[in-house]
Amino acid sequence: MKTFFDETRINKHNISNRFFVAPMSRVSAEFSGAPTEEMAAYYTAFAEGGFGGIITEGLYTDKHYSRSYPNQPGIVTGAQVRAWNHITKAIRKHDSIIIAQLMHAGSISQVLERTKAPSRITPLGKKMAVYGGGDGPFPIPDEMHEKDIRDMKDGFVRAAKNAAEAGFHGVELHAANGYLLDQFHTDYLNLRGDKYGRTVENRLRITAELTEEIKKQVPADFIVGLRISEGKVNNLSHRWEGGSQTAREVLRQIRKMPLDYLHVAAEHHGWKGECTYEDGTSLTGLAKEILECPVMANGGLHDLDLSRELLETGQADLLSIGKYALSNPDFVRKVKHNIPLTPFRKALLYPNPTLFTDAKYRRYLADQTHHVQKHR
Ligand SMILES: Cc1cc2nc3c(=O)[nH]c(=O)nc-3n(C[C@H](O)[C@H](O)[C@H](O)COP(=O)(O)O)c2cc1C
Repeated sequence: MKTFFDETRINKHNISNRFFVAPMSRVSAEFSGAPTEEMAAYYTAFAEGGFGGIITEGLYTDKHYSRSYPNQPGIVTGAQVRAWNHITKAIRKHDSIIIAQLMHAGSISQVLERTKAPSRITPLGKKMAVYGGGDGPFPIPDEMHEKDIRDMKDGFVRAAKNAAEAGFHGVELHAANGYLLDQFHTDYLNLRGDKYGRTVENRLRITAELTEEIKKQVPADFIVGLRISEGKVNNLSHRWEGGSQTAREVLRQIRKMPLDYLHVAAEHHGWKGECTYEDGTSLTGLAKEILECPVMANGGLHDLDLSRELLETGQADLLSIGKYALSNPDFVRKVKHNIPLTPFRKALLYPNPTLFTDAKYRRYLADQTHHVQKHR
């Protein structure tokens, strides 16, 4: 019977227990995209608090079209790689691993005036003021052509190599929550007639190609994981039309990818609300049946009865904790010693986004526009 404190393994790495910190954007990097000393302390606290692994907030992968938020950290420039190296070194002093989440905004960037996506479809919803960059509508994206796809893929591959150089144990490709790779995966956002559109296999092709290319270019023990979800930050209740049948089709494509783990996000309605189907199956349970790699579940899993049930019924190997890790960086130590958890309060998300002033934002936009023009 699996328990919270079993030692597990991803690729060649021993993981001291089954708890991971879920990726959480905190929009508190330097203006240049380099992580700060404050962020070093923030991440180290989770390792000190006993988490077996930490997945960083989504890091942007190129200077052109990938950025999602103002003050989002990147893994693109030498200065960013050096600053992350400082953090990974600190984590490596503890019994914990650190994985960089690689994220491309696609059509839902909060900072770019011009965006690129699989198809020219106006995103639902509007910008989330809390992340900075205002709260207006998203721009209509340009459809990505062959060269755009090549550039985007180069960005991801370089970012993965940079992550290895920065001392991360691996990367997680963010194909969840409505960002670029999820836009490719999603029927109503991907109307392409080429090899990246029309069928589930084609829609997931971009991710398959990326995982293969990254695996070829990083050391053998470097972890390559993938995060998927049905919900999207700008379409919270989105579910796949075919339910568990679509889940099976998606997972059969994912099985072909050279992955070290699959992470299933449930950002807003929790695992129960976002990962279960009417026929009694679950997305993580089906992933356990269909895939050979470890499966990480997410969404309200600070509910320890639910977490225990997922492990005991074979519906997950690993558990990622988001908001309750913010209110309890020492979550794992507390669970181990039966210490009550501190409830999460929304106020914990502040004041980071307000570090970003209007003047800085205008400078940032000017810088972005300049970059985009220079690279067209
Ligand atoms: C402040 C905040 C920022 C987030 N940023 C990211 C992110 O950068 N990448 C990602 O995949 N998910 C992100 N998420 C979603 C979390 O990883 C997680 O799926 C969600 O919080 C549900 O888990 P929980 O119930 O344990 O909080 C974010 C969530 C929060 C609360």
